[in-house]
Amino acid sequence: MPRPYQPSLLRLLHGATALLVPLAWITGLFVYSAHDGRSGRLPFTLGGEWIDIHGTVGVLLWPVALLFGLYALTAGRARLRQPGNVIALLALGLAIGSGKLMDEDWLRDGQFDHLVYGVHLLAWLLIALAIAMHVSSVLRRGGLPLAGSMASLQLRSGDLPGNWFDQIRRSLKVGR
Ligand code: HEM
Ligand code: HEM
Repeated sequence: MPRPYQPSLLRLLHGATALLVPLAWITGLFVYSAHDGRSGRLPFTLGGEWIDIHGTVGVLLWPVALLFGLYALTAGRARLRQPGNVIALLALGLAIGSGKLMDEDWLRDGQFDHLVYGVHLLAWLLIALAIAMHVSSVLRRGGLPLAGSMASLQLRSGDLPGNWFDQIRRSLKVGR
């Protein structure tokens, strides 16, 4: 079987998203443990302004996730036939959308009853499940070669940064 190859723009946007989401997840856990903790706290306390740190990760993540989402809906459309990919994208959208609506002072002021906060917490659980399903679907379909193709640094001619604009343009034309 030929080695799977992923377009370079997909690898760049997917890679940046896949680095930042776990960072958001873990800093979110520290925020929850330090400020909420209604369902339990971590057995240790970590000093640090975790709301600010999480907010900074979120500020880095949302533009990347927005570009990745736009890519997935245009040039990456065919890959969205895989339920594991769609679920990951939807969970990401819910986490980012609810995160953008969060107010950084709610948890500092002990206001835990905002609907947006409930949705943001739900998205936190859903994204962990969604990524587990996504990764297991990738491994089931193509094993380590498919998973590794997303982290490969190999570039084919015709798939250099100079070709990205054309790739998106062509995918928009095919859609019509
Ligand atoms: C993978 C899981 C998560 C993702 C992807 C995520 C993402 C985001 C994003 C994109 C923002 C907006 C940042 C901005 O542009 O201002 C945000 C804000 C926020 N999130 Fe999360 N979040 C996650 C989990 C959590 C958890 C578990 C908590 C804690 C209970 C939490 C608490 C907050 C708070 C308090 C803010 C407001 C921070 C600020 O505006 O400075 N998040 N999140
Ligand atoms: C951490 C958050 C992650 C998110 C939000 C995410 C999301 C997505 C999405 C939306 C797609 C479809 C892209 C398109 O339509 O062009 C995709 C594809 C893919 N992802 Fe992820 N992913 C994540 C993590 C991972 C990880 C850790 C792996 C490694 C095992 C991985 C491997 C892949 C592969 C191989 C594809 C292409 C699959 C195919 O051809 O159907 N992803 N991902």
